[in-house]
Amino acid sequence: MSPTPEEIRVPGSLSDRRINDAAEDSTGGGRQQPHTVDARHILVGQSPRTRQVLRLIEKLGKCRWPALLLGETGTGKEVVARAIHNIGPVGPFVTVDCSSMVGPLMESELFGHVKGAFTGAATTKIGLIESAHGGTAFFDEIGELPLDLQAKLLRVLQEKEFRPVGSLATRKSDFRIIAATNRDLHKEVDKGTFRRDLYFRLNVINIRLSPLRERREDIPALIHHFLTRVGGNYTVTAEAMEVLLGYDWPGNVRELENCVQHMVAINSGPLLHLADLPSNLQNFLNQKRSQYLMATVGGTPVHGTGAQHPEDYQAGNTPSAQAAPGVIPLAELERRAILNALQYTKGDRAVAAHLLGIGRTTLYRKLKEYNFDE
Ligand SMILES: Nc1ncnc2c1ncn2[C@@H]1O[C@H](COP(=O)(O)OP(=O)(O)OP(=O)(O)O)[C@@H](O)[C@H]1O
Ligand SMILES: [Mg+2]
Repeated sequence: MSPTPEEIRVPGSLSDRRINDAAEDSTGGGRQQPHTVDARHILVGQSPRTRQVLRLIEKLGKCRWPALLLGETGTGKEVVARAIHNIGPVGPFVTVDCSSMVGPLMESELFGHVKGAFTGAATTKIGLIESAHGGTAFFDEIGELPLDLQAKLLRVLQEKEFRPVGSLATRKSDFRIIAATNRDLHKEVDKGTFRRDLYFRLNVINIRLSPLRERREDIPALIHHFLTRVGGNYTVTAEAMEVLLGYDWPGNVRELENCVQHMVAINSGPLLHLADLPSNLQNFLNQKRSQYLMATVGGTPVHGTGAQHPEDYQAGNTPSAQAAPGVIPLAELERRAILNALQYTKGDRAVAAHLLGIGRTTLYRKLKEYNFDE
């Protein structure tokens, strides 16, 4: 008889210690105190793809080449950018969120301005480009940067100098650039919305982060990581884990993180059950159940050649089920449902019972009844 574990203890998170224990920010100059890395910036995963990314991070962290991070939303581009910086942290890590920088103040945000440069510029301000000097500038959503600022950024990358808004004097800034986007930059170049020369400058090394649905092996370790972060001694039940492993995660790791937080928030005990899943996963589960039911009921229609009309089924004239087209005796339906559930769950009786909507004891009884247990 196959074991029917109530719960799965998820394996520990695999994080490359050297990558993740490295310093978060070295702005403290010559201080030799150990740095701690914010748990939100730890890269977790054990799929071959993630291991490959960890190896690339380690290589990139030791040099100052530009890197371009590509991937759908929530795949961990920012986590990777910080991990690269953290390998050999030199200088600050400055994030430039290109999507939130809009309007006329964008240039001043990037390059700073001198006092009186425009109405409201009461004091001289240092921009993000200058703040990143000696460290890493992470240009998030680089595809959103307007063309005029793309030209100015290219100049900084090539000449290591720029001019604050309203100033005639140039200033120096030398930093490593890591850019990220979930757009297809190559297409943007063809459309003329992204400068080709800047694209080549950034695309020295690119890391493509796979969607979570293509590296499901990372899911248990990520869940464990997020559960550890919230504290407490939570465990995901086998049934819930099955659903979490099967879902497609359009919002990728961010969606998984939110899901874990939701489950913990609405659950009072240490076991996280199916009922604790958020609505998007409940919908997914319901969809799976109905697909499964459809497959079970519509599985093998019973073809009959006999009675065609209700009148044929009057008392005293009872035809056999085999003679009634499309009619399956309930017992046969039940037997098939159980068989399908066991095939679908590869013999896991706990999950099979759950899918069938019956208790495990009932399932065991029925297995005996239908002689499945022999
Ligand atoms: N491999 C990972 N290990 C641990 N946490 C991760 C991992 N990947 C992503 N996360 C977490 O998922 C969330 C989203 O990650 P991140 O912000 O890096 O994604 P992104 O690719 O930059 O998304 P967007 O394109 O929407 O900005 C963060 O809270 C991050 O901590
Ligand atoms: Mg991001």
